[in-house]
Amino acid sequence: MKRRNDLSPETLAAQALHHLDGATGAVVPAMHSASTFARDDNYDLHEGFVYSRYGSPTTKQAQDIIAALEGADAALLFNSGMSATVAVVEALPMGAHVVAQSMMYHIGLNWLNRQAGRGVIGFDSFQAGDLDALRAAIKPGETKLVWIETPANGDWSITDIAAAAEIAHAAGAILMCDSTAAPPCTTRPLELGADISFHSATKYLNGHSDLTAGVLSARAGLAIREEIEQVRGFQGTTLPGFESWLLIRGLRTLFVRYKKASENALTFARHFANHPAIETVMYPGLPDHPGHTVAARQMSGGFGGMMSLLVAGSAGRALAVAKACTTFIPATSLGGVESLIEHRHTVSGDGYGIPENLLRLSIGIENPDDLIADLEQALAITA
Ligand SMILES: Cc1ncc(COP(=O)(O)O)c(C=O)c1O
Repeated sequence: MKRRNDLSPETLAAQALHHLDGATGAVVPAMHSASTFARDDNYDLHEGFVYSRYGSPTTKQAQDIIAALEGADAALLFNSGMSATVAVVEALPMGAHVVAQSMMYHIGLNWLNRQAGRGVIGFDSFQAGDLDALRAAIKPGETKLVWIETPANGDWSITDIAAAAEIAHAAGAILMCDSTAAPPCTTRPLELGADISFHSATKYLNGHSDLTAGVLSARAGLAIREEIEQVRGFQGTTLPGFESWLLIRGLRTLFVRYKKASENALTFARHFANHPAIETVMYPGLPDHPGHTVAARQMSGGFGGMMSLLVAGSAGRALAVAKACTTFIPATSLGGVESLIEHRHTVSGDGYGIPENLLRLSIGIENPDDLIADLEQALAITA
């Protein structure tokens, strides 16, 4: 069968890059779990694979699919989102200055503060979405990495990726965009000027809450890319074959999952937008969200399933609402097919700007009427 390379991203994802096993005709890529690879009669490597800590065929297959979706030359898969971002910071020159948002995935922020406290990096933060604050936080010549996250985990504030890239580049820094909440079916950060697009692939890319993974896609020619790959090899954080195979399976339904989650979330957000028991719905898809205009420009395939609600009343009531839900599952994480609810302050604690009456919701692909009815009953019995 003739293979084509001019297919749209939806088709490439659904067909795992138009995959067909030439030897067997299998329409699903095989799963390779080997930790080591034999050399041929000339003592050369087969297709460059030597030892799975550096990469293996199934991991490469998953990387190739993600790179095609991101519009990148290549992607690197890690065994978690955190190990991917740790590798980026680790690959910077010793003492490099890093700028990141004060509202972002809180463990990432924790890690940056820890490294700054140990003198490994310099670190300053800025308010997500505020480009003047970003300019002010950068030290031209010293800042090597600007790390944005959009939509930002917590209040789902939006940062203009193209504008942030211009600001970073003018100061001699590279821009990494954590696009976990906006997978490549809606946002392609490299096309907007970012140097590295990062995802916790644990979330939408896989979509089934059954693995942890992280992925970095770098623009062509990015100097630090090789260094990052070396760090991955040193730390042994390459995603193994089985998880890569599961991820390939998840990627094949990415577009339909994300579209359905976005539709559900919009229906849900509109329902609770003027609800007497809800102070604020933080969802970039709503026109009154401060980042809506930018989000509409850079999230062409939907606003996703992530939102936060500020519950009217005490922090105690917000926690009681989370406990009273019976369809939403009270668990951390996001981007899976099942809807999750989390009293975020209980999980992250103080110091991350999370209001105590905030509930974080990851809206899945269920019937939205069931989700609306669940939150309505939880609000009613905690009134
Ligand atoms: C936006 C964001 N970035 C990064 C991470 C870290 O990814 P992982 O949990 O796969 O290490 C998370 C995890 O929740 C996240 O939500």
